[in-house]
Amino acid sequence: MSPDISLSNAEAVNETRRQHEYIEKAKGYVKKLSEELGRPLSFCVTTFGCQMNARDSEKLAGILEQIGYVEEADEKKADFVIYNTCTVRENANLRVYGRLGQLNRIKRENPHMMIALCGCMMQEPDVVEKIRKSYRFVDIVFGTHNIFKFAELIVSRFESGSMVVDIWKDTDQIVEDLPIERKYPFKSGVNIMFGCNNFCSYCIVPYVRGRERSREPQAIIDEIKNLVADGVVEVMLLGQNVNSYGKTLDNPMTFAELLREIEKIEGLERIRFMTSHPKDLSDELIEVMRTSKKICRHLHLPVQSGSSRILEKMNRRYTKEKYLELVEKIRKAVPDISLTTDIIVGFPGETEEDFEETLDVVRKVRYDSAFTFIYSKRTGTPAAAMVNQVPEDVVKNRFDRLLKEVQEISAEVCSVHEGSTQTVLVETINDHDSSLVTGRMSNNLLVHFPGGDSLIGKLVDVKLEECKGFYYLGRMV
Ligand code: 5AD
Ligand code: SF4
Repeated sequence: MSPDISLSNAEAVNETRRQHEYIEKAKGYVKKLSEELGRPLSFCVTTFGCQMNARDSEKLAGILEQIGYVEEADEKKADFVIYNTCTVRENANLRVYGRLGQLNRIKRENPHMMIALCGCMMQEPDVVEKIRKSYRFVDIVFGTHNIFKFAELIVSRFESGSMVVDIWKDTDQIVEDLPIERKYPFKSGVNIMFGCNNFCSYCIVPYVRGRERSREPQAIIDEIKNLVADGVVEVMLLGQNVNSYGKTLDNPMTFAELLREIEKIEGLERIRFMTSHPKDLSDELIEVMRTSKKICRHLHLPVQSGSSRILEKMNRRYTKEKYLELVEKIRKAVPDISLTTDIIVGFPGETEEDFEETLDVVRKVRYDSAFTFIYSKRTGTPAAAMVNQVPEDVVKNRFDRLLKEVQEISAEVCSVHEGSTQTVLVETINDHDSSLVTGRMSNNLLVHFPGGDSLIGKLVDVKLEECKGFYYLGRMV
């Protein structure tokens, strides 16, 4: 393992060059194996977790395609299977172990198959030890900081013939300009920062994603301009806490300033971002959202709990009152904004009164939708050592009550747009009825309406005729 590795700027540029050399080398090995087998080799990437991971998976797919693999949706048939893992909650880890067991059986029948594991779970030393000991059929293990080395690790695996493990504890560098294979031609995630410095007491992310690092604004703008030239009309700016963007740059810049620059990019139609931490959401950002023509009318603003007492124990650095004030300020500036959130139920020491405070926030804010989570104890976080862990049955009961409240409210909130006409970005042919297409509104709601392939990737106006709870049926106008 290589602890505390960091690269200077010049080294990072050099690193890009080195990796392109490994891509060429890997191509040779893939070609040879493909000739031996008499067919092209295929890959399947499975992503667990958040949008940052989804974007990382596009980078993995980009490298695999460059070196000669073709995509295969069914992992049972793939020659190279990679799991990009998540460890935010324990059940994500359990799913990975379960699926690895199945892969082992498949690999026994296809010994040339390669299995790689990467992502947040691999940043946990206990996990890597377990893989080394009990999952010896895994070929490559790497973490969140050295994804750019993927081609190099593949070459090492071809050359060594044994398991390759390379985990970095942290990094302060960002290696740019490696291949990416986008899932959608018309929209894309764009990393603007990596890591997190907040240390919310329940959260493992700061330990597995490392310290906060922002990309240079020019690198972000150049990437978006290239994406637009390649047909992208909507970007999602990604970071664990986008509101603190730019603080660590040599020439510091705020997130609002970055948005103003991105707004100027010609041909770019829509800008989204996530995630916003309430403690860092500035008046300047609200003003940019108010006046912007491109920023979508949607804000994901995780509250986590409605109890100021619990928020303090969570180290969230705002109170219930401050959060509600913030919501009011945003709604005043941008009345048609859609608000969504994350909520954790059953944080250690949460009482019935604390939980009632959470329900109260849900009723006051009236979220368009909310992701609700049962608290999951993550070893190494301060909350894991707290006394008064809440009994499972109590948590389950609160979770069900919260979910019911959230769903009832969001169905009501969703229906208010009935009869209006909205501009939507057409994303796909409808899964269930191929005479329909599915479009996404600025506020993130979906509408299904008659249309065909040629509309995909286009922005069109649609009349919302009927609300079906969490989505609409409509027709193009
Ligand atoms: N248990 C449950 N939910 C968690 N989250 C983060 N850590 C935990 C945990 N230990 C949730 C938070 C965060 C979202 C991405 O995942 O709500 O906003
Ligand atoms: Fe985790 Fe808090 Fe950072 Fe979000 S802001 S990634 S919840 S520590």
